[in-house]
Amino acid sequence: MVTLKSAREIETMRRSGKITAKVLTDLMKAVRPGITTRDLDEMAERGIRELGGIPTFKGYHGYTASICASVNDEVVHGIPGDRVLREGDLLSLDIGTTFEGYVSDSAVTVPVGAIAQNAQRLLDVTQECLMVGIAQMQKGNRLGDIGAAVQAHAESHGYGVVRELVGHGVGRAMHEEPQVPNYGKAGTGIELRPGLVLAIEPMITEGGYAVEILKDGWTVVTEDGKLAAHFEHTIAVTETGPKILTLRSFGEHPDVVKYTPEAERSGVSA
Ligand code: MF3
Ligand code: CO
Repeated sequence: MVTLKSAREIETMRRSGKITAKVLTDLMKAVRPGITTRDLDEMAERGIRELGGIPTFKGYHGYTASICASVNDEVVHGIPGDRVLREGDLLSLDIGTTFEGYVSDSAVTVPVGAIAQNAQRLLDVTQECLMVGIAQMQKGNRLGDIGAAVQAHAESHGYGVVRELVGHGVGRAMHEEPQVPNYGKAGTGIELRPGLVLAIEPMITEGGYAVEILKDGWTVVTEDGKLAAHFEHTIAVTETGPKILTLRSFGEHPDVVKYTPEAERSGVSA
């Protein structure tokens, strides 16, 4: 069942999203060679709780951390630990907050120090994939319009679109219906209506799109060992277009201003 959220619920989800956005921004700024993924996880949990939220991931199906930290060929769901980040690594950070019962979910991929040109290109195109997906979140469009747009953009650059993992509805639970694939056919699927809140999260690979799960039961890696990137926002469909509930004032794609109400624009540095 797909649930539509009221304006009031979306307002609460925006407050949840602001916590996610602020803590994710702090993590992005803290990333540098020499720190461990556990350092980032500890910073995240502290940050979320200080702002009155609960780390959504912690305890989710037995997951033990507050963020996912996925390095290089790790696509998503890397478990924070002793791993020391090194210059040139590509790091994907995924974080979720529960606030007043509502979940917000967001992810970014960031460079660790100076990275290779091919890694930067993958990062940039994956963020663009998220933007073209969000642009489809207009009332009257269909769910398949999102995946089709993301897939077309990724494949036009020769990249792979991960099939086994998808975006999702989000609200009182982190994972609600519908599933939101990053591939598909325009004009198919459910109609997008005001009040629908989705987490769109393209997972894009430099090589093939096949993935496997490591023995830890969580970490998803590319089968061919090539790089992957991941960006995610929690977004509401409104009468006037998409509203990004996890919008950050740092490190956003310039196109983000199109999906940002006037009142919030001043804080956005694209
Ligand atoms: N953000 C991820 C998603 O959208 C959730 C991380 S899995 C968890 O599916 F177990 F860590 F929560
Ligand atoms: Co998600």
